[in-house]
Amino acid sequence: MAYKSIDVQPISGALGAEILGADLSKDLDNETWDDIHQAFLDNLVVFFRGQDLSIERHKAVGARFGPLHVHPLVKTRIPEHPEVLVIEKSPDEKVADGNIWHTDVSFAQEPPLGSLLYAEVLPPYGGDTMWTNMYLAYETLSDGMKAVLGGLNALHGMTSYWQKDGPRHGGQKRTVNIDFDKVAAMEPAIHPIVRTHPETGRKALYVNPAFTMHIEGMTEDESKPILDYLYKHATRPEFTCRFRWSPGALGIWDNRCAMHLPINDYTGHARRMRRVTVQGDRPH
Ligand code: SIN
Repeated sequence: MAYKSIDVQPISGALGAEILGADLSKDLDNETWDDIHQAFLDNLVVFFRGQDLSIERHKAVGARFGPLHVHPLVKTRIPEHPEVLVIEKSPDEKVADGNIWHTDVSFAQEPPLGSLLYAEVLPPYGGDTMWTNMYLAYETLSDGMKAVLGGLNALHGMTSYWQKDGPRHGGQKRTVNIDFDKVAAMEPAIHPIVRTHPETGRKALYVNPAFTMHIEGMTEDESKPILDYLYKHATRPEFTCRFRWSPGALGIWDNRCAMHLPINDYTGHARRMRRVTVQGDRPH
């Protein structure tokens, strides 16, 4: 794809690209925004290094993609800016919440279109994030599997990973402060296992191990082997990219066709990121 105003450098063969030549702290013209939007659709996740983004500017960049989303459960928000989440791990914490392949907030009836993560404080090593291309994950399934999945929905909610006393956390202090009363009251969302991207028209797998509970009409035990197969397939290394953060880097990803995984390999060091999330529509 040719872009007129930016330089787009892929970081892997599957997805992910660094965008050079855009200073997001300044107002950009519409042509540049159109290029950035096209690069986002083409690459699923795009990165800008060395950006000087105030909270307001971070929100303004997010708003170029659509109205901003307020997380229904996570309480670690900036008080005057409910749309801005703080994703932080201090040197004494071992658990990093969200440290599982996931698609942001897929348990919502209308899950977010995309997320914009900005690096504020980084460990001296580690703390990278990985993404995987869920178009490729779908397209490389057999015709038989595509035919089976094409008619199926899955329930998305707060799986055991997220429960207060769930096995994941084993009494460790948690980094993300979740409103567990709201978790208990939440109705699962039902989404197609294969969704069609509303802008590109391409089909993508839409299940993830953090929030997908089971396939509609099947028990959890019956669903598990199918879902486990899909997760293993979707996270094949050749479908992924991995980004090494630097201070002031911004990553913008498309939750409609990519899953991501923050890597928790920096215990003893601090990491602090800011996330703005963009509202999406009901998957079809
Ligand atoms: C997230 O899951 O939104 C955050 C990813 C990260 O901290 O790298």
